Amino acid sequence: MKTRTVVSGRCLAACLAATLLVVLLLALSPLSAPDCNCGRFEPLETPLSSDRLAVLVPFRDRFDELVEFVPHLTNFLQHQGVNHEIFVLNQVDQFRFNRASLINAGFKVVRRTFDYVAMHDVDLLPLNPELSYARPADGRPFHVAAPHLHPRYHYPTFVGGILLISVKDFEQVNGMSNKYWGWGLEDDEFYVRMRDARFNVTRPGNLTTNTSNTFWHNHNTSRRKRDFTKCYHQKEVTRRRDRYTGLKDVKYQVVARHHLKIDNIPFTLLNIELECDKVLTPWCECEEPKEKAKPKT
Ligand SMILES: *[C@@H]1O[C@H](CO)[C@@H](O)[C@H](O)[C@H]1NC(C)=O
Ligand SMILES: *[C@@H]1O[C@H](CO)[C@@H](O)[C@H](O)[C@H]1NC(C)=O
Ligand SMILES: *[C@@H]1O[C@H](CO)[C@@H](O)[C@H](O)[C@H]1NC(C)=O
Ligand SMILES: *[C@@H]1O[C@H](CO)[C@@H](O)[C@H](O)[C@H]1NC(C)=O
Repeated sequence: MKTRTVVSGRCLAACLAATLLVVLLLALSPLSAPDCNCGRFEPLETPLSSDRLAVLVPFRDRFDELVEFVPHLTNFLQHQGVNHEIFVLNQVDQFRFNRASLINAGFKVVRRTFDYVAMHDVDLLPLNPELSYARPADGRPFHVAAPHLHPRYHYPTFVGGILLISVKDFEQVNGMSNKYWGWGLEDDEFYVRMRDARFNVTRPGNLTTNTSNTFWHNHNTSRRKRDFTKCYHQKEVTRRRDRYTGLKDVKYQVVARHHLKIDNIPFTLLNIELECDKVLTPWCECEEPKEKAKPKT
């Protein structure tokens, strides 16, 4: 197993707490993931693109996956000359995970300073350098994790995993639905938004790789249980197109912004507290709310 250098904060007082947390997580984290046999990508002579990509990574409790993701993706994108910054969208409220609302919130943070975004799973690492992360034209979102390449999902309307979309297009469809708490289906709803907007989603063409070697799926389902729970009328509602919620009404606060490094690669961690409209989506909590943990003495 490779050893990993410790994450460090840039500033002293303000980031000390974050650094301590990260060191603690690192100490707790078994880091038993198999080493990625992905190779290194040497930087090409390609000058850095003038298009700016914000990589939006919805996140919670996946530190061992993150320590692989940040160095790998940065190396991969530098090789292509992609001018990028990684934003880890860390959900810190008590509600169930909401990937789509995290992406909406992260998008609002970056929309003025970036040209396009990647909605990016933390556990899906591109291996084939032919997978382009260049800026897609308006009206043509680019689905990197295409069904014919993704290790697990092969249905034709799948747009999850990794999707590149211009800032203008994401705004045009009012981002993603805020109704999806728990695992799954938010990306399928986003597919319908793009279809209704008559976007022409494009995908990688003929690659020399296939479903088994285009990506490394750094995910252990026995260790990380997915939250499939459905309560109240979640099942019926989340099967329907949502014409109301999205970018315009996502309720959140960025409670902290940290500039961190993994293996000396910088990235930004945003601690995001989502708010839940309990009338509209009571399934943001399927059980009785747990008592607040007592502070450790
Ligand atoms: C998608 O492609 C169709 C057919 O080529 C074209 O008519 C349409 O304008 C395209 N949509 C966008 C948003 O570019
Ligand atoms: C892929 O390769 C096949 C056979 O060589 C060719 O017919 C097809 O047009 C190619 N598709 C793309 C998207 O390049
Ligand atoms: C994918 O490609 C590799 C390398 O060419 C090959 O060994 C493997 O059998 C292929 N797997 C599938 C599922 O086609
Ligand atoms: C997945 O995690 C379980 C429990 O921690 C472990 O026993 C198993 O070996 C892991 N599998 C892989 C492929 O790493």
